[in-house]
Amino acid sequence: MIERNISSDTNNIDNSDSPEDIKFEDSLRPKTFEEYIGQDQIKKGLHLAITAAKQRGETIDHVLLYGPPGLGKTTLAYVVANEMGRQIKVTSGPAIERAADLAALLTNLEEGDILFIDEIHRLPRAIEEILYPAMEDYVIDIMLGKGPSAQSLRLDLPKFTLVGATTRFGALSGPMRDRFGIVNRLEYYTPEQIEKIIGRSAKILDISIDDKAMQQMSHRARLTPRIANRLIRRVRDYAQVHGTGVIDKDALDNTLLLLDIDEYGLESADRKVLGIIVDQYNGGPVGVAAIAAATGEERQTIEDVYEPYLIQIGMLQRSHRGRVATDAAFTHLKVKKASKDKQSKLL
Ligand code: ADE
Repeated sequence: MIERNISSDTNNIDNSDSPEDIKFEDSLRPKTFEEYIGQDQIKKGLHLAITAAKQRGETIDHVLLYGPPGLGKTTLAYVVANEMGRQIKVTSGPAIERAADLAALLTNLEEGDILFIDEIHRLPRAIEEILYPAMEDYVIDIMLGKGPSAQSLRLDLPKFTLVGATTRFGALSGPMRDRFGIVNRLEYYTPEQIEKIIGRSAKILDISIDDKAMQQMSHRARLTPRIANRLIRRVRDYAQVHGTGVIDKDALDNTLLLLDIDEYGLESADRKVLGIIVDQYNGGPVGVAAIAAATGEERQTIEDVYEPYLIQIGMLQRSHRGRVATDAAFTHLKVKKASKDKQSKLL
């Protein structure tokens, strides 16, 4: 059973919960480790933990999954629940506003349930503290009344596994991090793995796609399954309306042009971030606050969504003095770097 308790939070930086995405991603979600492509080390570790826990008749340790958006943290939580043969209950940090919300969730769990909390770094601190005894000793302390007559009531909880997901490992408090027995960072996929994911999704959705288009698409999806699956959807629309219904190079090229996605998979917003560092700061270093102000994006969005991929493909570096665009970024944007002399005259 799946329970959704995700709020209609508009500030969800990874855009993961548009209704179209949820419907589409649910239909494509791999259910087992065998179906799940990539993240091999993480799968091995989780598989071992699950096998051992099952042999002992216990639940597995709490699991923290972190890394850039769209790499399959939620999907992995579903796989864990399925491989454990248990139900998953799904919520998110911003959806839990009050202590009573969390208490209701915890007291409704059944033995062995997986509780998935997305964006766990956005849990209010006061609520985090309720989670500590729940994770450690499977108990929850509820305050009854207020003032001098207030009483604390301790309730036992069933043994459960918390799977937390976050794009911002650094934003989690130390005590919260310490309570996860299994901590995994998801990595970007290789183009070959993305190609396999595209092939699998196309098969499930009964979409014809030729090999050349599939290979090309795998290089435009920012090494991210969610983006690959979104791109399939857009090219399918194009092929249906303008083409033969088959996704071929022509349909893909035209869709990419329409969406303004370049050969690195960068969209106009990514190029804007890079462009500011390159054009206005001659490559930097420049602080993230200045980039946020110049692009009109939130600082957090820049840090969590744009930067990780630009760093991954070697166009951006983080230094203690700020962000620096690499020579590859100058070449890609076809901008000539001003010499140091020229730059100091300009300043
Ligand atoms: N769909 C989204 N992520 C996937 C993955 N890692 N493997 C297979 N299908 C996926």
